[in-house]
Amino acid sequence: MRLTYTSDVWWKNAVVYCLDVETFKDGNGDGVGDFRGLTQQIDYLAGLGVTCLWLMPFFPTPNRDDGYDITDFYSIDPRLGTLGDFVEFMRTANDRGLRVIADLVVNHTSDQHPWFKESRKSKDSPMRDWYVWSDTPEPDDPKQVVFPDKEDSIWQYDKGSGQYYLHSFYRHQPDLNVGNPEVRDEITRILGFWMELGLSGFRVDAVPFLIENVSPKLADPHEFLADLRAFMTRRKGGSILLGEVNVPYKELLRYFGEGLGDQITMCFDFIGMQSSWLSFARNSARPLMDALRERPRAPKDCQWAMFLRNHDELTLDKLTDAERQEVFEAFGPRKDMQIFGRGLRRRLPTMFGGDLRRIKMAYSLLFSLPGTPVVFYGEEIGMGENLDEEGRMAVRIPMQWSEDGGFSQTEDTVREIPEGSFAPDRVNVADQKRDTDSLLRWFQLLIERYRECPELAWGQYTVLDTGDDAIFSHRCDADGATVVVAHNLCDTAKDVELRLDGLEHCDLTDLLVDGTIKVSADGTAKLALGPHGCRWLRASPPELPPEDASVMSQ
Ligand code: NOJ
Repeated sequence: MRLTYTSDVWWKNAVVYCLDVETFKDGNGDGVGDFRGLTQQIDYLAGLGVTCLWLMPFFPTPNRDDGYDITDFYSIDPRLGTLGDFVEFMRTANDRGLRVIADLVVNHTSDQHPWFKESRKSKDSPMRDWYVWSDTPEPDDPKQVVFPDKEDSIWQYDKGSGQYYLHSFYRHQPDLNVGNPEVRDEITRILGFWMELGLSGFRVDAVPFLIENVSPKLADPHEFLADLRAFMTRRKGGSILLGEVNVPYKELLRYFGEGLGDQITMCFDFIGMQSSWLSFARNSARPLMDALRERPRAPKDCQWAMFLRNHDELTLDKLTDAERQEVFEAFGPRKDMQIFGRGLRRRLPTMFGGDLRRIKMAYSLLFSLPGTPVVFYGEEIGMGENLDEEGRMAVRIPMQWSEDGGFSQTEDTVREIPEGSFAPDRVNVADQKRDTDSLLRWFQLLIERYRECPELAWGQYTVLDTGDDAIFSHRCDADGATVVVAHNLCDTAKDVELRLDGLEHCDLTDLLVDGTIKVSADGTAKLALGPHGCRWLRASPPELPPEDASVMSQ
């Protein structure tokens, strides 16, 4: 596998870093993060080793859903800067070799968007069909209501024009109607606009809602996704769509475009994520093993996007009620830690009680799982949450740069800085840069190793049976090169025996700590794992230096 090839298909082993400009770094001292502040931190991000930034919405917005309620798709929220600042940021990111993708939130607009204001004027408005209207909406199925704390229906009566409009999310977010060809054209223009300004793609918000909740129904809703991808590829080969598609594995392949892989380039592995949390709660690898064994292969040039936490609630909606309850009990027993009856509004380190060994193991697992890792800003230093913030904002708190916060020069910041054991004086970038044992340095090592082991992302993976439920172990094989990985989910040391067919007599060189293990003539290897220990091992025949056994050197 040549580097010239893996760099063409760059997303397949990218490291994606999600951030919100608003909470990352304030460059002008008004308490709100902005593009100037972010631009000044590009070297930090490049030094961390991430390869692609995902920017949460940065468009003009009344901010009733943290920017996921947009009033102009072609501009920048003035609190965050100007288009000029955006272009300067893009140039600097590209200069440091970073790609950038942005949230594409076109399932809906804000109700303050000029399109909706026009649409709701009357039934005869020329833009009426840009949204989904009905005289007699179907009765609500409670399962369709995404935010049950605020809404009890997905239809809202509009007195002025005498019809109901559809809103899959909040009532102030009317659904755009991609059943209307003018809307589909406009969405394409939005993609084209930002691609001209340098974006390498988009994280597509709420994909199933976007293509299904339309009027009239599209003959083939997936054709629209294929059209978008084709447009992007025409304009700029190698641009991608990263899809928020939280549906069972069976249904997911359609979003990639089945065997063709011509729709969503990468889909988040929501099932793998939820299974990981059940595994953590039980200290048992079984749920994650089952998920990865069941997971379909992504089509050629497509990829699974792996994550443990994101900007939303830690959704556990695909677990059974009893399983969800287990995770709640383990990681968020208090009602104020839970949200929507299906998720947790906490970050990972607090859920692990600050246990650094366990936190490091969890991220080692994330970076070694087959797919492209996506991290949420602040995960690399182990930031906690602030439960005093409303709903999901608990995890969207200002980035902690230094002992005194370092996010802004003013104390009056966009969101409250947390106090207690995860406050900036305990958890910050500056301190962790000086500490070789810090989580930040661990992230750097994991990212470096992940990038050096394309087998993990590109290879054929096999989940291994170890006979011990606490151990998650897998191997990834690509073009005759192999990486073997093992994680101990529990806090007691373990000795494990792995069956490694085809690797008889090979050396296994540890990529995270010192150490070499021999695979015996019968294809077994004995491995010691400390409490919450983790090992990444490169296999090489005894006559070959391990560095030359990587798929990269072929
Ligand atoms: C999904 C986003 O991730 C979430 O933050 C947002 O509230 C909804 N879509 C509605 O846009």
